Amino acid sequence: MSLTMIYGIKVDQELKDSDMEYMSAYLELEECLRFSKYIRKIDKQRFLLGRVLLKKKISELLNLNVSQIRFSYSEYGKPVLQKYPDCHFSLTHSGDWICCAVGQVPVGIDIQHMEPIELDIAKNFFSSTEYNNLLSVHKPDRKDYFYDLWTIKESFIKATGKGLMMPLNAFTVRPCYDEDCKMIECDLEKEAHFYKQFLLDSEHKMAICTKGKVRILEPRVVSIDGLMS
Ligand SMILES: CC(C)(COP(=O)(O)OP(=O)(O)OC[C@H]1O[C@@H](n2cnc3c(N)ncnc32)[C@H](O)[C@@H]1OP(=O)(O)O)[C@@H](O)C(=O)NCCC(=O)NCCS
Repeated sequence: MSLTMIYGIKVDQELKDSDMEYMSAYLELEECLRFSKYIRKIDKQRFLLGRVLLKKKISELLNLNVSQIRFSYSEYGKPVLQKYPDCHFSLTHSGDWICCAVGQVPVGIDIQHMEPIELDIAKNFFSSTEYNNLLSVHKPDRKDYFYDLWTIKESFIKATGKGLMMPLNAFTVRPCYDEDCKMIECDLEKEAHFYKQFLLDSEHKMAICTKGKVRILEPRVVSIDGLMS
């Protein structure tokens, strides 16, 4: 069974300007333009760390130099490597965390920082079955359940590469907590997708979804120093 790896960075401090300068050398022209458009340092930092983490991990897998990793974008905005169509990856950022997944099958990964939320928005984004299931959950556990659904659904639409072109209420997910890897059924996708969930810390949930069943290890946390070596 093929293996999909997850790598994460916890960003709980501001990067030094010298570190940002060092890392921005990994960006290609188009990425530099995007980087320069972010106003807040936190957004610049998040974009930079995400790109560098992803490029480093892909370059290790493919045994290439980081500068050889050049993304193009699908019609729905998913980054892809045209020269290496069998290398699949996904990137996500939320709250204090940035994570990427890298492997040999299409993959989507999503983190959500579990902020207080008005659960009514689930009416617009979830299927009616999911919304009713949410309402049937014991009230104190609803927020948790909401974020389970949200991360799983987002990881699925990222694995398909369709992003928000795939209506979030067009398929139904039922989180179950007693198995390792669970299946997502969706009439809009022919092939079975599987998901797995992780709690990164008490405030951040993550889900990963793959086309077909693969082995997925616990996320490996990378330090910022490790990223620069
Ligand atoms: C873009 C989207 C695919 C994910 O966005 P997100 O969850 O806000 O952000 P994440 O950090 O998890 O993911 C962003 C990354 O997804 C990747 N991405 C963009 N389009 C993608 C697509 N079509 N397929 C897969 N990945 C995609 C990019 O690498 C992007 O990183 P970058 O901006 O640094 O290039 C899209 O699903 C989205 O905007 N979702 C938010 C929708 C929402 O409000 N849901 C509410 C549910 S209750």
